[in-house]
Amino acid sequence: MWGGRFAAGPDEVMAAINVSIGFDRRMAKQDIEGSLAHVRMLEARGMISAADSSAIQEGLSRIASEIRDGAFPFRDAFEDIHMNVEARLAELIGQAAGRLHTARSRNDQVATDFRLWLRDMIDATVPEVKALIAALVDKAEAHAADVMPGFTHMQSAQPVTFGHHCLAYAEMLGRDLGRLADARKRLNESPLGAAALAGTSFPIDRQQTAAALGFDQPMRNSLDAVSARDFAIEYLSAAAILSMHLSRLAEEIVVWSTPQFGFVRLSDGFSTGSSIMPQKRNPDAAELVRGKTGRVFGALIGLLTVMKGLSMTYAKDMQEDKELVFGAADTLSLCLAAMTGMVADMTIDAQRMRAAAASGFATATDLADWLVRTLKVPFREAHHITGRIVKAAEAKGVELTDLPLAEMQKVEPRITDAVFGILTVEASVASRTSFGGTAPDNVKREAAAWRTRLQSL
Ligand code: ARG
Repeated sequence: MWGGRFAAGPDEVMAAINVSIGFDRRMAKQDIEGSLAHVRMLEARGMISAADSSAIQEGLSRIASEIRDGAFPFRDAFEDIHMNVEARLAELIGQAAGRLHTARSRNDQVATDFRLWLRDMIDATVPEVKALIAALVDKAEAHAADVMPGFTHMQSAQPVTFGHHCLAYAEMLGRDLGRLADARKRLNESPLGAAALAGTSFPIDRQQTAAALGFDQPMRNSLDAVSARDFAIEYLSAAAILSMHLSRLAEEIVVWSTPQFGFVRLSDGFSTGSSIMPQKRNPDAAELVRGKTGRVFGALIGLLTVMKGLSMTYAKDMQEDKELVFGAADTLSLCLAAMTGMVADMTIDAQRMRAAAASGFATATDLADWLVRTLKVPFREAHHITGRIVKAAEAKGVELTDLPLAEMQKVEPRITDAVFGILTVEASVASRTSFGGTAPDNVKREAAAWRTRLQSL
């Protein structure tokens, strides 16, 4: 491509460090789309003849089908996808191919391709996230009234419903969808026509190419257009947060599926055995979702680091952007599929969860609230009274539901047997009807709301 200036070819090591076709071939489709939009614009603006334009367009469509059929010769000698396509075009149509690169540079070309690729990737990720939300909503609906211990500090705190717990993740993932949509919106501007960095003296129409490629508008500054990678960083940030959410859920599944907890059982399809211990059912998929989070975080920090020292405008460092983003996107897609499969297939042991929820004086807060409501005791004092009642139950080795009324009355004589109506875990969760609370009725309502929301997202 630069044979006019150079007498010798690149050193072998130079070629090895420079070559990117091994990974940027993933942008072949977008590269051709970008070239088609560009050549049509060149023709419309009178910069190339109709004959050359149709030869180029036909050649590009042939290349597109070669790529689809796996027949395209990807060659290291042509360094990257842009030059591979152009070189192949020259083989197919001859000299006219050389006119395609008028008023364009690989700098605006790669930025265009990468934005198009990432836009496609985000569009493919959204339904994957929605599938996971749908699996969680299914579980929430099926277990809207099944009680589990709610934890703070990993200590039993108050009873909650399993459905409510599932919908907490639906909320997180809903915000992740919002972040992906934001990233998509901001990346959807066209760098094409910025040329190498300064714009061009040719009478191009950047509005036309932007519109043809589905971009909202051309980027307003040519220097920014070729050197900005914040769109990719923004995507990786959203991907990192989403991965963090998947990792938290994965951690819970690991804990819940231990024999000690026994809250959930992963399906055979999402469990692995041990080569030495026949009793084991290991949650490998959950552990890998948790573990692979490191790759996505790494990609975010990696690209931030690549970009942080680069002055305007393009530098070859930026070629490092693609593997990081491709890797993170592939990882995310696999993790979403694995998590959706695990959630959809897992079975819940409602009895074990309830038993765990009912132990450890989980309804102590309900007792304190009852004292406030019924006896008009200030909350701080109610807390104190309840603490003494819990202590009495602990001394007897019983739960609050099994502590005789007389024992409670030793602490607070005005307590009546009406108190037993609020001490069960079912009564506890049913009473949490405040907006956003865990009551089964709330969970059913929120699950239904999610079904509607999923349709509009
Ligand atoms: N393969 C290059 C990349 O991914 C394309 C842009 C090359 N531009 C240049 N001025 N060398 O960044």
